[in-house]
Amino acid sequence: MKLAADPAGIARAAEILRGGGLVALPTETVYGLAARADSAVAIAAIYRAKGRPEFNPLIVHVASLDQAEQLARFDARARDLARRFWPGPLTLVLPLRDSATIAPAVTAGLPTIALRWPAHPLMQAVLRETGAPLAAPSANRSGSVSPTAAEHVLVSFGPDAPAVLDGGTCERGLESTIVAVRDNGWQLLRPGPIPESAVAAVLGDAMAVTSGRVEAPGQLARHYSPGKPLRLDAPAAHDDEFLIGFAEVAGDCSLSDSGDLAEAAARLYACLHEAARSNRGRIAVAPIPHEGIGAAINDRLRRAAA
Ligand code: TXA
Ligand code: MG
Repeated sequence: MKLAADPAGIARAAEILRGGGLVALPTETVYGLAARADSAVAIAAIYRAKGRPEFNPLIVHVASLDQAEQLARFDARARDLARRFWPGPLTLVLPLRDSATIAPAVTAGLPTIALRWPAHPLMQAVLRETGAPLAAPSANRSGSVSPTAAEHVLVSFGPDAPAVLDGGTCERGLESTIVAVRDNGWQLLRPGPIPESAVAAVLGDAMAVTSGRVEAPGQLARHYSPGKPLRLDAPAAHDDEFLIGFAEVAGDCSLSDSGDLAEAAARLYACLHEAARSNRGRIAVAPIPHEGIGAAINDRLRRAAA
């Protein structure tokens, strides 16, 4: 069921969430499958609906920096990042406060919590009206392509789809940049719309990562899968390939005719959804430059191809 982007739709979404239910909500990055973060029952329903491995913690969305500070300990560096990039597509991984009333499954037992104050006006309105922080992973079955339109959510979940507040197409189109602020430096856990260089401009260079352990458990090699073999850096299509074009490489659909990387990010998942639905058995993608948000686009494509 779609809920309209009007006061009645926002009120209905907030009512479902307050009652412990799930609603898919638009953000500036991708649609999120939201539930109140203080309810163990509601959070269990997210994991069940997504078919998500239990060890993979969730991002908690807040309506203000004040609300975020009730959940995590911010030092001067974390506050600088929040002031510079919030509301917006940056998620901060910070020490969890003992007093935070967050269902343990949200953080999957970690001593840290991932927080984001999103910029989308509909998401902000629902957060305010619900009055609780909302955990929200991308609103798709685990492992498949993230949704950037209400239709993508309905297709991904089929007859079991939650209510979706229809905010049209997501402006950024890629999941938020995730930064962990640690005692001895900061780490980029997931590239996204805010480039690493923009974070480094505030905090200096990221710390060298010494251990090989998985820091963001959701960053599995295979992710964002369109369910078909995918070939990268393709200047042209082979037989039976659906070609996703960019700039001068014209495809069956194009990420950006003009070679604009922000446009390409916003269109990436819609093109992958279209390629998945097509009658061709394979997918090829034109070369995408690695500068700026191109790093995040290539990260998602590598995982989709794995
Ligand atoms: O743009 C986004 O971030 C979207 C929208 C809906 O806000 N949400 C999203 O959530 O992408 P999800 O659940 O698909 O991605 C959450 C990521 C996972 O890679 C998870 O491992 C990581 O955040 N994460 C969550 N809590 C963490 C923690 N305490 N430490 C390290 N990584 C964490
Ligand atoms: Mg996801």
